[in-house]
Amino acid sequence: MHNHTPKPASAHKSPPLKGNARVPGDKSISHRSFMFGGLASSETRVTGLLEGEDVLATGRAMQAMGAQIRKEGDTWIINGTGNGCLLEPEEPFDFGNAGTGARLTMGLVGTYDMKTTFTGDASLTKRPMGRVLDPLRQMGVQVEAAEGDRCPITLRGPRTANPISYRVPMASAQVKSAVLLAGLNTPGITTVIEPIMTRDHTEKMLSGFGAKIEIEEDADGTRHIHIHGQGELRGRTIEVPGDPSSAGFPLVAALIVPGSDIIIENALMNPTRTGLITTLQEMGGQIDIINMRDAGGEDVADLHVRASDLKGIVVPPDRAPSMIDEYPVLAVAAAFAEGETYMDGLDELRVKESDRLAAVARGLKANGVECHEGEMSLTVKGVPGGKGLGAVSAQAVVETHLDHRIAMAFLVMGMASEKAVHIDDATMIATSFPEFMDLMRGLGADIQVSE
Ligand code: S3P
Repeated sequence: MHNHTPKPASAHKSPPLKGNARVPGDKSISHRSFMFGGLASSETRVTGLLEGEDVLATGRAMQAMGAQIRKEGDTWIINGTGNGCLLEPEEPFDFGNAGTGARLTMGLVGTYDMKTTFTGDASLTKRPMGRVLDPLRQMGVQVEAAEGDRCPITLRGPRTANPISYRVPMASAQVKSAVLLAGLNTPGITTVIEPIMTRDHTEKMLSGFGAKIEIEEDADGTRHIHIHGQGELRGRTIEVPGDPSSAGFPLVAALIVPGSDIIIENALMNPTRTGLITTLQEMGGQIDIINMRDAGGEDVADLHVRASDLKGIVVPPDRAPSMIDEYPVLAVAAAFAEGETYMDGLDELRVKESDRLAAVARGLKANGVECHEGEMSLTVKGVPGGKGLGAVSAQAVVETHLDHRIAMAFLVMGMASEKAVHIDDATMIATSFPEFMDLMRGLGADIQVSE
């Protein structure tokens, strides 16, 4: 999707949203399914995989290193190479827009005695990779990178990597995962120390594939994750649950469009991912968690959501890791709440697919919402009912900066604003939620895309 032609889109005040919606598979678990399945010996079968651009790029990277991947009916069938047996790819990897694909794969292959090159689109090549390259350098990996450790990056692994103990300096599941994956191809025990818990899909899934992984937790909650290198990984069956980050869009839309009443089916309820639901419930959102069940070792549930009178709150900063991708849509919910919502601890938002803190603040202002952007905080003053909200002028178009979540969040805003909300480009939505337009329109949303 490099140098694509932008597809502007608009969302208009919509009738009550009604019906059931099933969001696509979780992006984090889908990336890891291709990676771990592609690495394990024997067969892995995956259902519910997110077929978004980001995940497909990870699948192609694994194929380029020797994994066999095919689809039969609804099932993806992966025959992996075996741990330690990835092949040197012939071409550079192009991860498009995907930070998770690029960073986790750097960890996965960095310790191999081979050369790999990583690149991506105009968003990915601006994002900091030093957070992954620093621990890899300690493990013996040679790095050639553009200034500031940005892509394109070439890695050359050592003959034998060095196991390390690494304290992750920021709350990042990607950094944690990259080091653990590098540890898979390293003799001895590699340890990751995680002071603030982030999504734990890598740990859970690797142990499901048979990796030897031990986790200890200190009294203050710091986690010490030890992975034993060079063990065998065996293929398995994976049922990917619905992505709670994607669920956030119909969820907030139903809360703010008056008269709405919907059910979102099959959302992952892993506690490292449910911060948005907790926060919206504290704001007065009527969200009932129903049919809680186990799906392949993860809790999933359906969410019954009804339009609600929201009130502004202070969002605890320590909740940020469990809802890090949900702040754009939370800020939209806050724009319809009574009073002010204060969100803090948002420094990581500056290094996502775009500087999300700046992009959200600018988008809100372009649509008549009073807000204040701090260094790592955002304050939003809500307008219950959305009276007067929407494009402040004909030129007021939200700039999405190649960021799928900025695009979706502002389309949700338009569904409940008095005037339409316009975005400059809806193309990137395909990276994480290709069904977004159809799913939202199926619930009753009034969205138009110019082709
Ligand atoms: C992800 C981790 C998070 C998140 C991203 C997916 C993952 O990134 O924002 O969308 O799958 O590990 P960070 O590790 O940068 O917080």
